[in-house]
Amino acid sequence: MDMRPIGVFDSGLGGLTAVRSLRQILPEEDLIYFGDTARVPYGGRSKETLLKYARQDVRFLRSFDLKAILIACGTVSTTSLDTLQRENDLPIVGVVEPTCRRALLVTKNKKVGMIATLASVRSGAYEATLRRLDPEVEVQCLPCPLFVPLVENGRFRPGDVVIETVAREYLEPLKATGIDTLILGCTHYPLLTDIISAVMGPEVTLVSAGEESAFELKRMLKANGLRTDESRRGEAEFYVSDRPEDFERIASVFLQEDLRHTARRIDIDQY
Ligand code: DGL
Repeated sequence: MDMRPIGVFDSGLGGLTAVRSLRQILPEEDLIYFGDTARVPYGGRSKETLLKYARQDVRFLRSFDLKAILIACGTVSTTSLDTLQRENDLPIVGVVEPTCRRALLVTKNKKVGMIATLASVRSGAYEATLRRLDPEVEVQCLPCPLFVPLVENGRFRPGDVVIETVAREYLEPLKATGIDTLILGCTHYPLLTDIISAVMGPEVTLVSAGEESAFELKRMLKANGLRTDESRRGEAEFYVSDRPEDFERIASVFLQEDLRHTARRIDIDQY
């Protein structure tokens, strides 16, 4: 049994989609969440900048005594996972492999779409992983760079004409390719599930990166004897690198729970 918390990070709100899944499937675990809200979005940045940010995010989280880290960010997982795993002596789980495995279980026609940030699409990581796991799969990857800034600005609700217009413009050509499965390769995108489903239609199954990685984390903790006492109720603490107010408001709506601890602001440049 291991009572230490799990660290989870993202550039902003997106990683909360993984936190929501973790709260459901591992309700007994304590979580420390960091959202790098001062530097969001990560998605258009270079590999070098992303690695620098990711190292700082991990250093901040490791100021706590953690048992594992979940990179609840597609952009960091696709560009920096190997380096972070090499540099750190604790288990670090990313989102790419578990999400690809799920997509391959779901697809019937072996035509899989993947939407994510520019950096994730440029990295080729989702495509390479899908092909490694199933050489016959056809993959269509598409960056949707406007999605993250819109979500961070609260524009993710059905009926919002801005997000609905942007979604149609990005996704209608993708729908026309005949995919039956769509990977939401950025952890912000599940906040747009209703909007994305409305364009893609019921015949396309959405696979969410945050959710699948939460299941992977659970398997990893179990395999390594790192689960905590299953009879307890875990708590989550939230840290951000800019104004906590906006984050808290959206976080409590999204997680459907009042945050027991208010989000705290830290200076990420010190790490
Ligand atoms: N939510 C992150 C991802 O999964 C980062 C998005 C961003 O900051 O651009 O890619």
